[in-house]
Amino acid sequence: MRTYLVTGGAGFIGTNYIHYMFRKYGDAIRIINVDVLTYAGNLENLREVEDKENYTFVRADITDAEAIAKLFAENEIDRVVHFAAESHVDRSIRDPEVFVKTNVLGTAVMLNCAKTAWELPDGSFMPDKKFLHVSTDEVYGSLEEDGTYFYETTPYAPHSPYSASKASSDMLVKSYIDTYHFPANITNCSNNYGPYQFPEKLIPLVINNALQGKKLPVYGDGKNVRDWLYVDDHAKGIDMVQELGRLGETYNIGGHNEKQNIEIINIIIDTLQEMLPADDPRRALVSRDLITYVEDRKGHDRRYAIAPDKIKAEIGWEPETKFEDGIRRTIAWFFEHEEWMKNVTSGDYQKYYEEMYQNR
Ligand code: NAD
Ligand code: TYD
Repeated sequence: MRTYLVTGGAGFIGTNYIHYMFRKYGDAIRIINVDVLTYAGNLENLREVEDKENYTFVRADITDAEAIAKLFAENEIDRVVHFAAESHVDRSIRDPEVFVKTNVLGTAVMLNCAKTAWELPDGSFMPDKKFLHVSTDEVYGSLEEDGTYFYETTPYAPHSPYSASKASSDMLVKSYIDTYHFPANITNCSNNYGPYQFPEKLIPLVINNALQGKKLPVYGDGKNVRDWLYVDDHAKGIDMVQELGRLGETYNIGGHNEKQNIEIINIIIDTLQEMLPADDPRRALVSRDLITYVEDRKGHDRRYAIAPDKIKAEIGWEPETKFEDGIRRTIAWFFEHEEWMKNVTSGDYQKYYEEMYQNR
């Protein structure tokens, strides 16, 4: 039985990945989820799997080398899938240091512990051991609105402390590949959306605010472009890269679903109005009048867009979920999980929201 060590599995994409993997492989795999449970980590996401014999949760910090080394010593790990990170650009602008610590130092610790556990006396590695580093398209910087795309060969040019820290972590992984022939892959994915996404990110924030008749904050002119991918398609891509990709290679994941932020917000409003039952009181609250243009994000990247040519040609992956379907599925999930949203937006979230949006 193959054993996966998943870092950051209690966050948005990690959660969806764990559910995806158990749906796909059932009891043929074992997953150990290591997560320190920051504001973004939520064990409620994993209630359905927590009692499975082939699932274990370990609360630990990826920057704690001793704790991570112990996990490798006590378990025969075959795959590492490394999601754990600080992931929100706005937070990185306010507080960059924790991004360097978690994203850079944390990745160094994960790499070093895996290398130590998997390396043979002759410097080669045990067979069939693989490390996948989950990264972002934001490392490539910002595109003009001119139909160009990010390729795996696009030079790194990060702008935010978040993307700079992710770029540094990618470089560390590349250095392990080049120096030690360490068996790793990197995936650089575009913006994800779907169930369990924390409402600091655009799509769940807009859904949550609209349902309460709260303002929908649009940064700048609302014309920044992101390339949105349904999270299950990302989970599938990660698994396919790990099993079918060439070791040492980077694969971009995403593709051809570019939308301006204002378009996304309008689609969410229209879809909410369509999906809410006629007698639901929230119907009267959801309106385009809630759209409020606010001060732009500092250093706001204009456009991200992935060309997924390599992953399609080599591995056969391509995005499957159309945005119209994915957004309806996401909204339906939030309708069914009102309690989840209430729980994650109580307490600290209120403080965060005030600091980020009041007087903006
Ligand atoms: P998230 O913020 O929702 O979750 C991050 C998880 O990591 C949380 O569960 C958190 O508790 C955990 N974590 C944070 N610091 C930790 C530490 N020091 N030790 C152990 N656990 C820690 O993030 P996400 O959106 O699920 O993103 C996951 C990964 O995917 C990140 O590496 C991110 O850079 C990358 N990514 C995200 C997107 C996106 O659109 N969200 C797109 C491309 C790539
Ligand atoms: P976000 O979800 O934070 O992802 P990222 O910055 O990593 O792409 O933001 C997506 C886009 O939406 C980005 O251009 C910033 C914009 N945005 C708003 O206009 N208003 C908001 O309240 C938020 C959170 C984001």
